[in-house]
Amino acid sequence: MDEGRPNITVFPGVYPPSEDTYLLLDNLDIRQDDIFLEVGCGAGLITLTAAKLAQTIVSVDSSFEAVHNTMENLKRNDLYNNCHVVESDLLGALASSVKFSLMVFNPPYLPQDDEHTDLDHALIGGLAGTELTQRFVRQAADHLLNEGRIFVVVSTLANVESIRQTMNRCGFVVDTVSEEFLFFEKIQVLRGILK
Ligand SMILES: C[S@@+](CC[C@H](N)C(=O)[O-])C[C@H]1O[C@@H](n2cnc3c(N)ncnc32)[C@H](O)[C@@H]1O
Repeated sequence: MDEGRPNITVFPGVYPPSEDTYLLLDNLDIRQDDIFLEVGCGAGLITLTAAKLAQTIVSVDSSFEAVHNTMENLKRNDLYNNCHVVESDLLGALASSVKFSLMVFNPPYLPQDDEHTDLDHALIGGLAGTELTQRFVRQAADHLLNEGRIFVVVSTLANVESIRQTMNRCGFVVDTVSEEFLFFEKIQVLRGILK
């Protein structure tokens, strides 16, 4: 791991930064004038990195523990000034007038199965695995500035093509900025630019 990474703690029941977190983080182009939203901030590693680079940061998570974990890690690293952390189902808690130039989401992307763990809320993206990501894409399009970008992690364990199609239908031009083979899947970072 990069020694320049922030020093973070991970609360029980919160997704620990993993291969998908680092693949996303290492392929973001965060600009100084970005108005940045992280959806599903978890322990907050991506949010903390953005807080060092961008002017305004909003982070949301549907998990109360994750919201408090991100707030704790922002405080530990003295990065709290330009950040707002909100408990929210996707972008639901944000006023429709709030717009961003960059949104990132490392979503739960696995299909539902019969196994259950304490981290299902961070891993399972719906029956097919894609439902939550598709809901995010539709909401993102309504909260992005013109030419705004989204970066989202997808897995070949779910139907990546259906997510690309949803992105296209919502007005995004899509490309794959990075990918990595894990044990049973390939994960990819898709970038969408709103045209
Ligand atoms: C795979 S984890 C990623 C955490 C962190 N961003 C990272 O990359 O390490 C997915 C996160 O999305 C959150 N999440 C799941 N459903 C959500 C929803 N409907 N709205 C907002 N966040 C959600 C989970 O609580 C979890 O923290």
